[in-house]
Amino acid sequence: MLTEEQLTYIIELVKEYTGNIIERNKSYVIENKLQEYVERLTFDNLSEFIEYLKSTDASDIKKDIADILTVNETHFFRDETIFNCIEEYIIPQLIKQNSKTKKLSIWSAACSSGQEIYSLIILLKEKFPDILTWDLSILATDFSQRIIQNAKLAQYSEMDVSRGLLDNYLNRYFVFSNGHWILQDEIKKYVNFKQLNLTESLPIFEEFDLVLLRNVLIYFSVSDKEKILHRVKPHVSKNGFLILGSSETLININAPFVVDKLSNTHIYKPS
Ligand SMILES: C[S@@+](CC[C@H](N)C(=O)[O-])C[C@H]1O[C@@H](n2cnc3c(N)ncnc32)[C@H](O)[C@@H]1O
Repeated sequence: MLTEEQLTYIIELVKEYTGNIIERNKSYVIENKLQEYVERLTFDNLSEFIEYLKSTDASDIKKDIADILTVNETHFFRDETIFNCIEEYIIPQLIKQNSKTKKLSIWSAACSSGQEIYSLIILLKEKFPDILTWDLSILATDFSQRIIQNAKLAQYSEMDVSRGLLDNYLNRYFVFSNGHWILQDEIKKYVNFKQLNLTESLPIFEEFDLVLLRNVLIYFSVSDKEKILHRVKPHVSKNGFLILGSSETLININAPFVVDKLSNTHIYKPS
């Protein structure tokens, strides 16, 4: 059982490395998530490990802790309303806008284990196959190096593929091997994965037609949300779109984006 002081130490460590705020009532989650790591480093218990952390600069280990404690919850085609909006409004709009250049760029800015960006590519392949012959730039980033490795591997459990993925997509784009559903190269090949921390200056130099920043702002303070949104804005092209998670809004947030009133759900455009 973590003491109040140990809990504060871990919460502050995660905030320092990722900006994420862990609620104090999540003590048991912290203990469960860190247990295996603590055992692997051969500490007798979490208290001993935390005392060690306090006495060292070992930033690699501290980064690992922050990584382990990020929430990576995701699933294929998460939020049907948004995927319908991408299919019925955003992509047709981008096809119109970019028909001359035949270029399309997409950034999944908190991609977790890849389900979000892979769902989008499956959608393109199914509904807009011509677009896959365009000059595509598809970037997927996350703070967590561990989760990026999983995303690159694209090997999913039975449970993962049972959440949000239609059976015919599963059969068409995955092969079952050694207990995992492995996404085929014809989808994987489009994505460039990269580790990136949204709380730092962004090491990207591109503007994207579509930026997915879904279900990540909820973990930040209002002032950090605002900083992230200002940092992301230069990377959303003038006529591009920003999508947040369904429970995230920009109400009462000072952000350089406005709601796109033409869509029937909450998506944003740069202001
Ligand atoms: C709940 S998942 C959301 C995944 C996906 N966007 C979705 O909506 O299903 C949140 C992701 O944000 C990442 N994340 C948290 N803090 C971050 C930061 N400071 N920079 C980049 N990614 C971060 C986590 O590692 C995690 O994979």
